Amino acid sequence: MSARYFCSELSSFNFKQYWRLYLLSRLVQLHVYLYIIYMDNSLSRMMIICGHHQKVGYQENGEAFLPRGKRMAGTGSFSEILDGENNVYKYYSEGEWRKSVSGKSVAIVNPTTRKTQYKVQACSQAEVNKVMEAAKIAQKAWAKTPLWKRAELLHKAAAILKEHKHPIAECLVKEIAKPAKDSVTEVVRSGDLISYCAEEGVRILGQGTFLVSDSFPGNERTKYCLASKVPLGVVLAIPPFNYPVNLAVSKIAPALIAGNSIVLKPPTQGAVSCLHMVHCFHLAGFPKSLINCVTGKGSEIGDFLTMHPGVNCISFTGGDTGISISKKAGMIPLQMELGGKDACIVLEDADLDLAAANIVKGGLSYSGQRCTAVKIVLVVESVADALMEKVNAKVAKLTVGPPEEDCDITPVVSESSANFIEGLVMDAKEKGATFCQTYKREGNLIWPLLLDNVRADMRIAWEEPFGPVLPVIRIGSVEEGINHCNASNFGLQGCVFTKDINKAMIISDAMETGTVQINSAPARGPDHFPFQGLKDSGIGSQGITNSINMMVKVKSTVINLPTASYTMG
Ligand code: G3H
Repeated sequence: MSARYFCSELSSFNFKQYWRLYLLSRLVQLHVYLYIIYMDNSLSRMMIICGHHQKVGYQENGEAFLPRGKRMAGTGSFSEILDGENNVYKYYSEGEWRKSVSGKSVAIVNPTTRKTQYKVQACSQAEVNKVMEAAKIAQKAWAKTPLWKRAELLHKAAAILKEHKHPIAECLVKEIAKPAKDSVTEVVRSGDLISYCAEEGVRILGQGTFLVSDSFPGNERTKYCLASKVPLGVVLAIPPFNYPVNLAVSKIAPALIAGNSIVLKPPTQGAVSCLHMVHCFHLAGFPKSLINCVTGKGSEIGDFLTMHPGVNCISFTGGDTGISISKKAGMIPLQMELGGKDACIVLEDADLDLAAANIVKGGLSYSGQRCTAVKIVLVVESVADALMEKVNAKVAKLTVGPPEEDCDITPVVSESSANFIEGLVMDAKEKGATFCQTYKREGNLIWPLLLDNVRADMRIAWEEPFGPVLPVIRIGSVEEGINHCNASNFGLQGCVFTKDINKAMIISDAMETGTVQINSAPARGPDHFPFQGLKDSGIGSQGITNSINMMVKVKSTVINLPTASYTMG
């Protein structure tokens, strides 16, 4: 119980006012008590102290009702995740928030201020070992927890997460410079993803298959096979910086509903958002050691984690580190999404307004730091001028500045990332690309830039900038566009703009990518859609259903009958 007080000086003692105040307080679920502490000679002036008892905790439905002022990262119900003495966020192991014995921390630099914003524990390999051991034991008990109960807890975590969208969004703004509104959207989307996953899990894991032997040549009906889906064990989840909450829960929720335990290794940039999100699972009441979160330097614990014998599955989203992880991981299921160079093919008959809107939104939202961003425009020469005019008009309207002000274009995640983007821009400049805007950079903030007349000998034609810079290649034919798309090492998504569905289908079939969007920019969501990359863009398929199915193995039990038995035979 906590109490807050406020004073009110009334010109006259008035029971009507008292009751109005009392009824209002009941409406907002506060328990009010009033104390008369001062009275002058007459009853005409009174000082009244009003206070309310407030429950700090959660209702049955998982809703928190902390006072608004307390809803800040690292405070209120999140205060236990912060070592306030040293101002370092703790890691989560065995159901508790802990300080690393290493005594070391990792600094997280705010991309906007370029100053240290947060610090997290630098966990040691010994601490990772302990987490792995505990996660293995916790998983065994969790696998025996009824499916409906697993789903119930996931729904509770989703509600708590959404209730705390503001403090978590605050971390996203500070750690990865995601615009404020998009940061809130990421948290809400994550809560929805968890709930959907709980429901989908109940449906798909509640079913198995039943086979009979006489369908295979040479067999009588003497064998009944019961196949069901069982958990893998410990799932190592490694999300990227650009969606640290959403792409963490897209791994955590399927793993948990399927009966696995989780070891989460957040990206450095985004770690504090992840820790807050994990605390929501803690508050939901998941068994201890089922969900664990270790922070630290990749050089210290990165390989150690991915090569750990206690890991039974890795779900990774990020860059080409994933390729080296896949070489070291051994014989365990892997799910990886490693970026893309998503092409946008615009045909002569396209709705150019629609195409322009999607190119700008698809290419430049979150400053182009999305694996599914439009990363190259391939436009048929005859409509190129008209398209570019529309696109440039939209680019001119984009706001550029800090994420707190909800600007469209915000600083990219790090100085090294900004330098890399600048390298691509300078290479294109040297080789003669047309700059549609003046190149401008302040710190990590890069103004949106379209590069027209890009050619295949420029790096930006093939590499993903992960920034607000969009190359455009003018093509002589659709085939040329498809060939460029298919010559890429990546194969995540692509899109085509045309009013002719027959042409769209032929182009979609020809594009070597995991998904092709017709008349819309590439995107992962809705989150239950299959999401997969070909070639260097990854292995396995994601999306809620595919992730659940990926995080289980099939177990069969065969009943052998002494004599053949035919139904109603
Ligand atoms: O950055 C990679 C994400 O999977 C992209 O997700 O299409 O929802 O932005 P999104």
